[in-house]
Amino acid sequence: MDIEHVRSRFIKHFDGTTGAVYASPGRINLIGEHTDYNGGFVFPGAIDKGMIAEIKPNGTKTVKAYSIDLKDYVEFGLNEEDAPRASWARYIFGVCREMIKRGVDVQGFNTAFAGDVPLGAGMSSSAALESTYAYALNDLFGDNKIDKFELAKVGQATEHNYCGVNCGIMDQFASVFGKKGKLIRLDCRSLEYQYYPFEPVGYRLVLVDSVVKHELASSAYNKRRQSCEAVVAAIQARHPHVEFLRDCTMEMLQEVKAEVSEEDYKRAEYVIEEIQRVLDVCDALEKGDYETVGQKMYETHHGMSKLYEVSCEELDFLNDIAFDCGVTGSRVMGGGFGGCTINLVKDELYSTFIETAKEEFKKKFGRSPKIYDVVISDGARRLE
Ligand code: GLA
Repeated sequence: MDIEHVRSRFIKHFDGTTGAVYASPGRINLIGEHTDYNGGFVFPGAIDKGMIAEIKPNGTKTVKAYSIDLKDYVEFGLNEEDAPRASWARYIFGVCREMIKRGVDVQGFNTAFAGDVPLGAGMSSSAALESTYAYALNDLFGDNKIDKFELAKVGQATEHNYCGVNCGIMDQFASVFGKKGKLIRLDCRSLEYQYYPFEPVGYRLVLVDSVVKHELASSAYNKRRQSCEAVVAAIQARHPHVEFLRDCTMEMLQEVKAEVSEEDYKRAEYVIEEIQRVLDVCDALEKGDYETVGQKMYETHHGMSKLYEVSCEELDFLNDIAFDCGVTGSRVMGGGFGGCTINLVKDELYSTFIETAKEEFKKKFGRSPKIYDVVISDGARRLE
């Protein structure tokens, strides 16, 4: 992330003065996918890639926003009816609106921003953008009175209310709460969390990006969530205390097998298993048992591919290559429908794996995947 780059564009694009600079990261997730909106556990960490924004109040009621990467400029007002058309600007607009709803007196500002989280790669570039502005507006207009959890919820509500994605809290939580060298286990029902030092001596985490982006990812995502809710409703009729799939056992799911669609059944089966896998991985990590961590990652991939059906040919292919190379753990990361696999690789296997993945992927799909080494870093902050 390059602060000088953002600053020079801010100066050039606006009136030559400077503002305050804020940054927020994207995230990885070791395990616990599609569990957040089911009240389950997730295990993310912030990364060294994210968004940087320079912001300066401009004494008007208008936001003047410049996307450095897209070379696109948009102006919008701060009332509900002022929503801009450009999808990137809707994130900033949504954050402004959600902060206003929480009592922050957001005023007009000039802003320019840029990022190095690859878009659509499952590393939460949108959460990075939301957290950057939520953190900044709280600092500039809110006397920092909104707490960190609420800042994460501002980002999530932006997705729900202005971007059409009914996401859970994981991405925004990781982007705000991230800490260098630490993964975070979050209980998405109670919102209790715990930092876990992640220093897998002898192993590395690496992302292999299929560079596939699916157009319908957000509607398919929302559909998965509806399936989970349908199963919860059926189980609730027999077990009124059940609020989320988190509260359900496989036995409860069995009881309603005839009442829910085959598809919804598979979705719920995956989620119930996945919530348990996060706990198993935490135990294994405490013992330094990376073989078990890796095995659980493969199980997750299998579930995401065959039961939750959010993988794709390219990601399944990358997962197979990892397995054939003897990689300890590998799975599709994030919402799915394209993006990356996350791989836990022994140091001595790293180069062979990366070379083989690149070569074989190119042979089959005619282009190279992108490789990102994972560096676990800090969350949302003011840079100067
Ligand atoms: C997306 C969502 C998250 C989470 C993941 C899947 O990244 O934004 O809330 O549901 O997918 O684990």
